Amino acid sequence: MPDLPPAQPETDAPASAFAPLARTITLADVRRPVEAELAHFRRYFRGAMRTKVGLLDKVIRYVLHQKGKRIRPILVLLSAKACGGVSESSYRGAALVELLHTATLIHDDVVDDAERRRGLFSINALWKNKIAVLLGDFLLSRGLLLALDHHDYPLLHTVSDAVRRMSEGELLQIEKTRHLDIDEATYFRIISDKTASLIAACTTCGALSATDDAEDIERMRVVGEKLGLAFQIRDDLFDFGVQDVGKPLGIDLQEKKLTLPLIFALRESGRADRKRILRIVRKKRKSRADIRTVGAFVEETGGIAYARRRMTELAREARDLLAAFPPTEARDALIDLTDYTVRRKR
Ligand code: IPE
Ligand code: MG
Ligand code: MG
Repeated sequence: MPDLPPAQPETDAPASAFAPLARTITLADVRRPVEAELAHFRRYFRGAMRTKVGLLDKVIRYVLHQKGKRIRPILVLLSAKACGGVSESSYRGAALVELLHTATLIHDDVVDDAERRRGLFSINALWKNKIAVLLGDFLLSRGLLLALDHHDYPLLHTVSDAVRRMSEGELLQIEKTRHLDIDEATYFRIISDKTASLIAACTTCGALSATDDAEDIERMRVVGEKLGLAFQIRDDLFDFGVQDVGKPLGIDLQEKKLTLPLIFALRESGRADRKRILRIVRKKRKSRADIRTVGAFVEETGGIAYARRRMTELAREARDLLAAFPPTEARDALIDLTDYTVRRKR
């Protein structure tokens, strides 16, 4: 990997002598307006996973120990609060999306044969694929039942549609990976389906649980979509070592997964370079030198800068849409979340 320059501060306003020092927004800052609600959510989430099967219970306790960031429940609760207030159905929405998210991560690690997740061993690494697949199915069905038991059909519809899109997005990515023929439009379609759909479901569920205003609900959905795209571009930038995330670099590349920085770089380069780089990407096993070569090529061709720019634009668009909501602590935390999304380190 090339030594990349440190992340540039991405501000949209000129620095003023009176402006406070720019401060890095943490997830703790974003969580603050819904801290009490999140405590309730955690109990609710645990309760939704209760089972009498000892083996299942043991694995679930391990899953709870693998702490995720809980971005999706935070998004549901903040969106609800920004649209009028958190209700019982907001908690169901939050639990539903986190259950489905957790199920898809567990299945994803089986699909990718991944050993680690959230800094710990993956479920398949510890209990094998069979248990991981069944656990994913269990969590998925618990989520769906949670909504059904309370006749939360709009929530159920929103989230089920997101799960369908997530599966299609992953499959489209596999199809494209085989032929290495992914262009920018296809990349956006893939990340919209596999990641932004569930993030958009979060903001939609939050809004649905708090208001009947169709315009607010739709606006929140678009906020989630843009935020989700930015979130995935950030994730894809991690693979190029843009930030030290404590995660090995070049995993996507090893798997022949073409993401935005490389798609841009290939498009902008000449035939000879393209051939040279694609030959490396096609290799079954890539050496560290191979990964470094591709990384340097992407950096030099402006692929990193381009992906960063697209990500920042999307975050700004989300922020502009949020500005249309009444000024509340929750709305401002959502605005901060757009900033966190593009700067996050994990
Ligand atoms: C990981 O999502 C999967 C992607 C869509 C990139 P998160 O980064 O939110 O995962 P956890 O829940 O914090 O582990
Ligand atoms: Mg995967
Ligand atoms: Mg990832």
